Amino acid sequence: MTIGFGSYVATEAIPGALPVGQNSPQKTPFGLYAEQLSGTAFTAPRHENRRSWLYRLRPSASHPPYTPYDNATLLRSGPFDEVPCSPNRLRWNPLPPPVAGVDFVDGLVTIAGNGDPANGTGMAIHLYAASASMRNRAFFSADGELLIIPQSGAVEIITELGGFTLTPLQIGLVPRGVRFRVELADGSAAGYICENYGALFRLPELGPIGSNGLANPRDFEIPDARFEDQEGHYELIQKFGSRLWQTTLDHSPLDVVAWHGNLAPIRYDLRRFNTINTVSFDHPDPSIFTVLTSPSNTPGTANCDFVIFPPRWMVAEGTFRPPWFHRNIMSEFMGLIEGVYDAKSDGFSPGGASLHNCMNGHGPDVDTYRKAVGDDLKPHRIDGTMAFMLESRHIIRPTQWALESDTLQKGYDNAWAGFPKANLPQS
Ligand SMILES: [Fe+2]
Repeated sequence: MTIGFGSYVATEAIPGALPVGQNSPQKTPFGLYAEQLSGTAFTAPRHENRRSWLYRLRPSASHPPYTPYDNATLLRSGPFDEVPCSPNRLRWNPLPPPVAGVDFVDGLVTIAGNGDPANGTGMAIHLYAASASMRNRAFFSADGELLIIPQSGAVEIITELGGFTLTPLQIGLVPRGVRFRVELADGSAAGYICENYGALFRLPELGPIGSNGLANPRDFEIPDARFEDQEGHYELIQKFGSRLWQTTLDHSPLDVVAWHGNLAPIRYDLRRFNTINTVSFDHPDPSIFTVLTSPSNTPGTANCDFVIFPPRWMVAEGTFRPPWFHRNIMSEFMGLIEGVYDAKSDGFSPGGASLHNCMNGHGPDVDTYRKAVGDDLKPHRIDGTMAFMLESRHIIRPTQWALESDTLQKGYDNAWAGFPKANLPQS
């Protein structure tokens, strides 16, 4: 493993596989095929430019035509116009366990999204629930990079550029176009995925915080080269232009023997997040919890922010400590990896989700409110929890499945019922 977000890596699974001093020499070591994988336009500014050179057993161009994917799928994609977008606050229970034999690809269901991959804006939010490892097949999205957020069960992400295991409380980021398959270490696995159609996720600026804090670059891990020299029937499935497509190969496409560059899968452990908060009074905005951001063309207004609410000390004096009531121009999708989220006393379960769209009021439920205004404000620690939020400048549009699913909770609005009227002085 190499460390460092966006680090430049040179790695070879067989010594001598990387050409020295030239990316595409006439004769590569062992006759490997040189291929550039570009995650940004060739002409992107140097500090934003992301690309890697791959040295592989066969060119990735060597495949028959793709045809539409055979299996029924609940995967959806921008422009998310199946059904009218609801302004209502929505909350979902976790997915039920999958039936036997469902792998990562067939276990994907899209809950919401925005933008359009054809325009390079927005994102999709998928859930996955798998009961089988991917065998002899690989997947990639040409529509966006994939931020994988496990909630239960360990998954091994085996990509063209190497692999890693992800357990709950870790996240993985697979670049657009990178082929991978998913094996299950625990027999089943479930979690969330953000498919980012927009600018690549990056670390947020730190401003006056300084040169340390939040997610530190050194805690991101990039895998070493690893390859499969495997012949035989292999399915390759891609998401392209909002649909799934398939082709067959006579070999594993995960055959990159060596690579160098700064576009690669990456793993991060959310427990390493350096949480920063008030040590006097009041709430900073939740943007202080941003792990990764995909900027839009408007400064400070994200296409998508990935934000976490990790264990932390609460010490604010004279302050209503839970997340406040608010209405936000940004739209907010939340998931829960473990524990209890501090704005909701119940009903928001690990594996569940909620959606609070642009300008629709939300905040703590009534039980959380009553407790918070009555609490003795000693320092206390919020522990054993990890919620996350995907926040976007674009309205987050639920899919038809999300609005018709049995997992959609009826009566979520009751979370904000029963608040007593404020007491004005009697005249
Ligand atoms: Fe919010």
